[in-house]
Amino acid sequence: MNDHALHQLNRAPDRVRGTFRVNGEAREALYKPHTTLLELLREDLQLTGTKHGCELGECGACTVLVDGVPVLSCLVLAQAVEGQEVATVEGMADGPTLHPLQQAFVEMGAAQCGYCTPGVLLAAEVLLEVNAAPTRDEIRLALSGNLCRCTGYVKIYEAIELAAARMRGERAAPSHEALHGY
Ligand code: FES
Ligand code: FES
Repeated sequence: MNDHALHQLNRAPDRVRGTFRVNGEAREALYKPHTTLLELLREDLQLTGTKHGCELGECGACTVLVDGVPVLSCLVLAQAVEGQEVATVEGMADGPTLHPLQQAFVEMGAAQCGYCTPGVLLAAEVLLEVNAAPTRDEIRLALSGNLCRCTGYVKIYEAIELAAARMRGERAAPSHEALHGY
């Protein structure tokens, strides 16, 4: 943002300045008080990995973590999370190394259009933090707020199981059946 634009924004009476913690970094923004966390992330901070779906709290595409807890960012005001730690899908990889969940999703073909994937990955990350070996039903329950219109969910569940096994230190690989369907 150039100096003139910043000057204009600073004069805007309908905006507030806030400092946020996102993916471990301090981020500052001038934003309208009614801005949702989803809008702040995508429009003010250019973190477009978080997806804009129903805006009604029904699809889970906008899922992010606030202090480690999954929240629907379309239903949360940005002001409400100042001072809290926000985590988005952009923060999952460790530099060039994908998170084990991301790696498993790639290998299993668990993302098709990918619109649901950021929210699913974050919900799964939280699940595996509290339950290193979830059953299929526990995975299903943890993802019950994240809708996917493409995959039929089976590949997603299998990818989470693969990642969980690897995170437990097992030498796991996708099964032939999981990859080829026979
Ligand atoms: S966009 Fe937030 S739940 Fe659908
Ligand atoms: S991969 Fe398309 S909505 Fe899930």
